[in-house]
Amino acid sequence: MLRFLPVNVILGVDTSCDDTGIGIVIDGRVAANAVASQTSLHEQYGGVMPELASREHLKVIRHVLDRALAEAGVTLADIDLVAATRGPGLVGALLVGLNFARSLAVARGLPFLTVNHLEGHIASSLVDSDLVPPFLSLIASGGHTSLFLVNGWGDYRELGRSRDDAAGEAFDKVARQLGLPYPGGAALSKLAESGDAGNVALPEPLRLQQGYEFSFSGLKTAVANVLAKQPDVSHADVAASFQQVVVTSLARTVDRAVRDTGVELVSVAGGVAANRLLRERLGAAPYRVHFPPLALSSDNGAMIALAAAHLTGSGVRTPGDGELSLDALPYFPLEEASVGR
Ligand code: KG4
Ligand code: ZN
Repeated sequence: MLRFLPVNVILGVDTSCDDTGIGIVIDGRVAANAVASQTSLHEQYGGVMPELASREHLKVIRHVLDRALAEAGVTLADIDLVAATRGPGLVGALLVGLNFARSLAVARGLPFLTVNHLEGHIASSLVDSDLVPPFLSLIASGGHTSLFLVNGWGDYRELGRSRDDAAGEAFDKVARQLGLPYPGGAALSKLAESGDAGNVALPEPLRLQQGYEFSFSGLKTAVANVLAKQPDVSHADVAASFQQVVVTSLARTVDRAVRDTGVELVSVAGGVAANRLLRERLGAAPYRVHFPPLALSSDNGAMIALAAAHLTGSGVRTPGDGELSLDALPYFPLEEASVGR
């Protein structure tokens, strides 16, 4: 039973995709955030190769742990609780971190907690802010695009998600069409700075919807059509127009959710939170928006430790507490993260 355990030093592990992340949170603050990125390994394939990702996690995880301990200036003997991502993500990749973390906990007789990856993103989006629930949380990464209403820790409602590609995935796929290296989000955004969005017309997805869903796959096809029909089109203009449409779609959906729920606090998480135009557009909104520090907006282990700190601090149990047999969950809706607590 983890209820109100005095956990001061929390180790968090995330291996849900292609980053091996181990972070340490001490008294609610990030003391270490060690991440080994696999980008160069997957770059040549234009996307993440799951089997390669798992093997790489296995190879480096021990070193990432050493880096995190050194960065925080602690030893394993100082850790009070170990937390790891159970899902959603690539099963093989998840299993590496989950079992590494669980073994560590068992070997040292420590409590162990599993965390939903999205719960981690939400927790990281609060760093350096005084936001408390209820608030809205937009998660826009390479794997997810969802809008949540966070009523409290362990109490989440998904208002909407992408029907197809995640926003970051769309950035990456369009960047590829423009000949930019993987992952192309940041490069596309840079290219867009020298372009004029008004020169290339692209359709805004789900423009007339009343709900909170997203869709980016049609936009990607629209870009492919422009490139096929106008081979001489300025790539910078295409990038600017694409980015403008994605940002407008994300921001308008958040606007609507704020208006409908009356909740005027918003946090943004995930790799796309690094996007400058998105920061400008939401930054100018009439409600309060908080963006996490860049190092915490993409996948990392510190966000898992932060989520664990919130969960234990509010007396929430998660599956994994006291359990020894655990499965990684490739599909793990955040709302189900609170079931069984
Ligand atoms: O959260 P994250 O590091 O990993 C996932 O969980 O997927 O997000 C990575 C995604 C990639 O798709 C990347 O292209 C995108 O975030 N990204 C950006 C920017 N920086 C990273 N997208 C748009 N603009 C950026 N500046
Ligand atoms: Zn993520």
